[in-house]
Amino acid sequence: MKIGAHQLRNGLFVAPMAGITDRPFRRIARRMGAAMAVSEMISSRPELRDSRKTRLRQDHAGEAGPIVVQIAGGEPAMLAEAARYNAGLGADIIDINMGCPAKKVCNAQAGSALLEDEALVARILQAVVAAAGVPVTLKIRTGPARERRNAVRVARLAEDAGIQALAIHGRTRACMFEGRAEYETIAEVKSRVRIPVIANGDVGSPEDARRVLELTGADGIMVGRAAQGRPWLFRSIARYLESGERLAAPAAPEIGALLGEHLEGLYQLYGAEQGMRVARKHIGWTVRELPGGEAFRGQVLRIDNADAQYCAVNDYFATLAA
Ligand SMILES: Cc1cc2nc3c(=O)[nH]c(=O)nc-3n(C[C@H](O)[C@H](O)[C@H](O)COP(=O)(O)O)c2cc1C
Repeated sequence: MKIGAHQLRNGLFVAPMAGITDRPFRRIARRMGAAMAVSEMISSRPELRDSRKTRLRQDHAGEAGPIVVQIAGGEPAMLAEAARYNAGLGADIIDINMGCPAKKVCNAQAGSALLEDEALVARILQAVVAAAGVPVTLKIRTGPARERRNAVRVARLAEDAGIQALAIHGRTRACMFEGRAEYETIAEVKSRVRIPVIANGDVGSPEDARRVLELTGADGIMVGRAAQGRPWLFRSIARYLESGERLAAPAAPEIGALLGEHLEGLYQLYGAEQGMRVARKHIGWTVRELPGGEAFRGQVLRIDNADAQYCAVNDYFATLAA
């Protein structure tokens, strides 16, 4: 699969997740087999450019390309300027967020709230493509609500505007994260446009990935929540799609080493104190299905120092390995 001039090694994408898919997460997920990892969304509002949060989200030091920066907002000119600005900072691809249902984002007429207004969608897509100077991709939901699924029309607008790939989460904005993702709408979109389509929503295993690819005919698969604490999921999916082989779950020493690398990345990116707090959820996700994981998670929540946290994780995995 190709996006602009970027030839991807497979069709596996890390879904952007604000607060989760920061640089350390993306780096490990990419090494574990994902071809591309979209950054956490960055607001298009210029007054937020210099905030600490935005600066941390813009940190791609040492990251392998293509670097994909997701922008969020509702104003064509502002989004166009944000695209130009982020491409100037080194983004290889700009992704536009029309998929996020979060109140904070939608109240500002951004994210999936934009799907209500197709004329505005068209203006945004045209403005961003004209300004970016790099390939632009789009992430959407299937529509504002079940009775108003307009993904096919939005996909056509995207294709006409020069969008180079389209990721679709198989839920509507109104669905938030409830129920199960549906793939019929994604299949319909795929049959109506020529640009690459990436299917997203509730892919939790290699078998899910194959089923969703078969159901939708999509060119790629995007995985979010199921990879939390399980970055090797991308390796398992890639191998299964290539050869049908079902890899065993990694052994404790490999999981421990990956988590150790993740923690070091978090302490380095955010500083020890914030990094330690961000790390708590990743530790919890990683150990949740391991022996004594629940008790260990509780123990980790009471630790408030990065060195002690790192040592506790090391000790936990050393005990597991023994
Ligand atoms: C905590 C969290 C944060 C998210 N942040 C973003 C975001 O910044 N931009 C975006 O387009 N989607 C965001 N999403 C949506 C995901 O990219 C994805 O579409 C959704 O989780 C469905 O995929 P999954 O079932 O594989 O998790 C977020 C989802 C979660 C759970």
